[in-house]
Amino acid sequence: MDWGIKNRLSRIIKPATGRTVMLAVDHGYFLGPTHRLEHVGRTVGPLLDYADALMLTRGILRSSIDPETAVPIVLRVSGGSSIIGDDLSNETIMTSMEDAVRLNVAAVALSIFVGSDYEKQTLESLALLVDMGQEYGIPVLAVTAVGKELGKRDARFLSLSCRIAAEFGASFVKTYYCDEFEKVVESCPVPVVIAGGPKLETELDAFKMANDAIQKGAAGVDMGRNIWQNDNPVGMIKGIRAVVHERKQPEEALEIFNQSK
Ligand code: 5RP
Repeated sequence: MDWGIKNRLSRIIKPATGRTVMLAVDHGYFLGPTHRLEHVGRTVGPLLDYADALMLTRGILRSSIDPETAVPIVLRVSGGSSIIGDDLSNETIMTSMEDAVRLNVAAVALSIFVGSDYEKQTLESLALLVDMGQEYGIPVLAVTAVGKELGKRDARFLSLSCRIAAEFGASFVKTYYCDEFEKVVESCPVPVVIAGGPKLETELDAFKMANDAIQKGAAGVDMGRNIWQNDNPVGMIKGIRAVVHERKQPEEALEIFNQSK
């Protein structure tokens, strides 16, 4: 791996533990003003001290995040469809690598939609982004999107998507947690982080999911709604950090959450 890519990646995936707690706030790129993300700056401000990286679009970065922040930025560069459009998978690259360099990002992120009508288009975008990333020393995070079909979140589909992302040169991959998640990790030669998905019923459920993912080989989480849609978002991110970096049990994370109320 090139020095620049390795150096940037080590700002996200912490060498001390080999893991990361990324905070995802990029949802507006296709969902618009998501609940609790109407004012991203206000939501994110209290959480920044606990995030190893912040994932968002350039518009929200420039408008809502203090440029003096030390938190590494993972810049979402893909998009082009919305929740009310015809096909969520019709995405392409919407932000240039030059702008990513201007923004001093630690990585760029793009969704691939394996199995969709736009499979080839999104894989071509990934290939192009990896080429540009190699040129500038910027790692690429591939997000294995499922569109509206949440049912596709099984080990067979996610292994296929993660492996294809790695074959195309992604430096790390973001996917969903699923049954037999160890199969997804084992067949993917680059680090895998998990999205949280829609807000779970209880905090303990979220801590358990993070714990199970780490136990089965994940390099961490890139979590959004289960953190900032909670009434105690700081407690949530502290609990998640405890699971990911300190390998606390989910019940201990829940105690940390309750103490932080
Ligand atoms: C959407 C994304 C989101 O960042 C991702 O889904 C993480 O957020 P959440 O934990 O809310 O699912 O990449 O494609």
